Amino acid sequence: MNKVISILAAAALTAACAAPVPQSFSVIPMPNEVELTDDVFCVKGAAVVEGEGLCENASAAVRAFSDRLALVTGKQAGKGKGVILFSADASLAPEAYSIKIMTDSVLVAASSFNGILYAIETLKQMLPAEVYGSQKAKAAWVLPCGVISDAPRFAHRGFMLDSARHFWEVEEVKRVIDIMAVYKLNTLHWHLTDDQGWRVEIKKYPRLTEVGAWRSGTMIAKDWDSDDGIRYGGFYTQDELREVVAYAAAKGITIIPEIDLPGHMLAALSAYPELGCTGGPYEVRKIWGISKDILCAGNEQVFTFIDDVMTELTDIFPSEYIHIGGDECFGGRKEVGKPVPWDSCPKCRAKKRELHIKEGPESRHLLQNYVTARVQQILADKGRKIIGWDEILQGELQEGATIMSWRGTTGGIAAAEKGFNVIMSPNTYCYFDYYQSEEQDKEPLAIGKHLPVEKVYGFEPFDGLAPGTESHILGVQANLWTEYIAKPEHLEYMMLPRLCALSEVQWCDADRKDYERFLDALDHSLAIFDVMGYTYAKHVKGLIGLPGEEQPAEAPAE
Ligand code: ACM
Ligand code: ZN
Repeated sequence: MNKVISILAAAALTAACAAPVPQSFSVIPMPNEVELTDDVFCVKGAAVVEGEGLCENASAAVRAFSDRLALVTGKQAGKGKGVILFSADASLAPEAYSIKIMTDSVLVAASSFNGILYAIETLKQMLPAEVYGSQKAKAAWVLPCGVISDAPRFAHRGFMLDSARHFWEVEEVKRVIDIMAVYKLNTLHWHLTDDQGWRVEIKKYPRLTEVGAWRSGTMIAKDWDSDDGIRYGGFYTQDELREVVAYAAAKGITIIPEIDLPGHMLAALSAYPELGCTGGPYEVRKIWGISKDILCAGNEQVFTFIDDVMTELTDIFPSEYIHIGGDECFGGRKEVGKPVPWDSCPKCRAKKRELHIKEGPESRHLLQNYVTARVQQILADKGRKIIGWDEILQGELQEGATIMSWRGTTGGIAAAEKGFNVIMSPNTYCYFDYYQSEEQDKEPLAIGKHLPVEKVYGFEPFDGLAPGTESHILGVQANLWTEYIAKPEHLEYMMLPRLCALSEVQWCDADRKDYERFLDALDHSLAIFDVMGYTYAKHVKGLIGLPGEEQPAEAPAE
């Protein structure tokens, strides 16, 4: 045993504060209360016991943990001396867990399936990284004795994967889910549709995937006039989507699908041009950026289409929330105020008159409010709530919507003041498609800007909120848009280790965060990535670039 043990000599001094954090305890996200001694519990051959009250899923997770310990230690459960006992404790908060490690036994308790999963993840991270591997390993298979008591700060701990700009095979999506689970994230927001591709099979509208899932080429790098001429695309069948939903659920992760509307819809319009204001023809977008052509707000057929799509979507995804997009319906920030089809479309204009919306710059937002409200009702009728990007707040949003604040935190702050629930996902701290260093010539191509791991870590979701509105912040999420990301190793490079920093923003109480302690602990996570075969960025080690192309940073971080 050469790791992880530290006696809390300063305990008496700091008795009035939170428990001090042992220096070499390398669990991420850092549990809220940890007290360790230098005794140890021997994991090898310990019996792993399902105590009273565990649900079926929790029992399965405990059995999987037992099998894993047997595999990596090379000793069957029950052949050693100790016992690891998992039991239900209804007095604990949702997602909370406690672990008491003694020399002869480990007692784990949680009130929910997720709590049991998080206890297992904490135990795994306390063990050598080889516990994440798929073979027997010679290692110090012991846990330090002590007590851990833990619960997350935020209920929504999300990560968004864009499968529209580039399509990710089911196996890669599962790898994303696997690594989210290690860091106790509980929500995968899956961006499934956009101008550049429609990725979800909808049986009533087969052309969405026959036509909308394929583009005839893709722009090359950042040359907006280029086209590689290579047909590109793919989609998930409903069976595949159900498989991923079940896979994620077994790891405590809910998938919230996004159908981005009424903008970002060119792929759907290419399949069903009658849903657009001009009737087309349209073509699945080959360049990045945003199409001006969006769903017609004055055509009743559009709402029938949305209702039908949501019927099939909600049958696949059991999530409480469905993300309905709502961003950039009228172009990007540079295009604000320029004419769009809604201004001139006779059906949209008639709808505005019917709704007593006066023509003018604000009329677009009010018409978008009408679309949002209709979709909100469609989903409410199916027992679901909506999340939308912060643009849906412009104008007059109906109550009950949740805002995902992406244009900084301004939208989220305003939404919370108006009484809406909010997920903070500001581009400034949470956009994992941004570069990880300022030496961009050494980096794989990215969309721009600069978001190092330290900046992600520094995000405080309550900053700027009006006092008393904090309870509206449901949580925090990072987003990985994939315009410039086409390969799994690049995807993972953009995700890791920024995801680890994110997890402490999502999980740890603000006064428990400490970047130096996090950096120390990160070494262990990098070892876990190696064992699990993930590609990751090494900026914290003074290296830049994808493996094989790495170069020293000008000023190494250490
Ligand atoms: C967004 O980044 N357009 C939500
Ligand atoms: Zn129209």
